[in-house]
Formats: sequence, structure tokens, C-alpha cells
Amino acid sequence: MALRNIVKEGDEILTKNCRPVEKFDDKLASLIDDMYETMLASNGVGIAAPQVGVLRRVFVVDIGEGMIEFVNPEIIKTSGRQETGEGCLSCPGEYGITIRPKFVTIKAQDRTGKEFTLEASDFLAKAVCHENDHLNGILFKAHVIRMLDKDEMEE
Ligand code: NI
Repeated sequence: MALRNIVKEGDEILTKNCRPVEKFDDKLASLIDDMYETMLASNGVGIAAPQVGVLRRVFVVDIGEGMIEFVNPEIIKTSGRQETGEGCLSCPGEYGITIRPKFVTIKAQDRTGKEFTLEASDFLAKAVCHENDHLNGILFKAHVIRMLDKDEMEE
């Protein structure tokens, strides 16, 4: 495994639509492992492939319950509403209040191509929505209703 550089806001890569993964090979496995290591090293809870410069539909999430990898994900159902704080490894030091669904059903594949469906709620639902947006070139700021200043961030 190896750390990769995190692409920051302002780079065109973060505005692109990512392509589906077609090959479930060693290169994909290395990408996923590197993304996870890079995410942990930055104390993140999720990271998407374009954030390490790879325009493929892959992201990983770990909200403290272990890594979940999503390849070619598709959000198939959302419901409810949550209004909470949110940030992004590509926008260091910036946080805002976003509105996201409270419940999300997502279908995806793992690194071997095996399909699964996950029902997520609350924090995991928010993380899944945030990372899935990256695959469509969308940053969390698109969902922010109010940016937080330094004092509020510390709370
Ligand atoms: Ni992000």
C-alpha cells in the first residue's frame, strides 16, 4: 500500500464525471488499498477515486466500523432529511452545514465484482452521498446551506 496525493479544490479533476470500472484486477485492488491508507492518514471518513486523481467510479468509507468499498455504486433510494456539519479532504479547513437524506439505499460492487446492497442511515448515509457526489464532479459545497466559521468548527 502507498499514500497518494489528495487533489484539492480548484483542480479540474474534481469537476469531472468518472467512468465505470470494467476490470476487477490487481490495479483496482491497489487503488482501493491506497485510497483507504490515504484517507486514514488524513483522518478522513471517506475518499473517492478522483480525489487521488483517478477518474473511475470507486469510493471507500469508514465511519469507525471498518472499511466499506464501493465500485460502480448507484444510489437507488433516499428518504428523510438531516442537517449536519460536513467537510472534505479536498477542501482542508472548510466546513459547512449541509442538507442530506437521512436514509440511503445503495447498490455497488466490491473489488472482486461481487454485487451488494447497503442500507445506510445518519452519518453513514451522509458519507455515502458525499463520496458518491465526487464521482459526478460534485463537491459538498453544492449542498451547503451555511459555511461554518473557525469558532463553530471547533465546537
Ligand atoms: Ni469529499
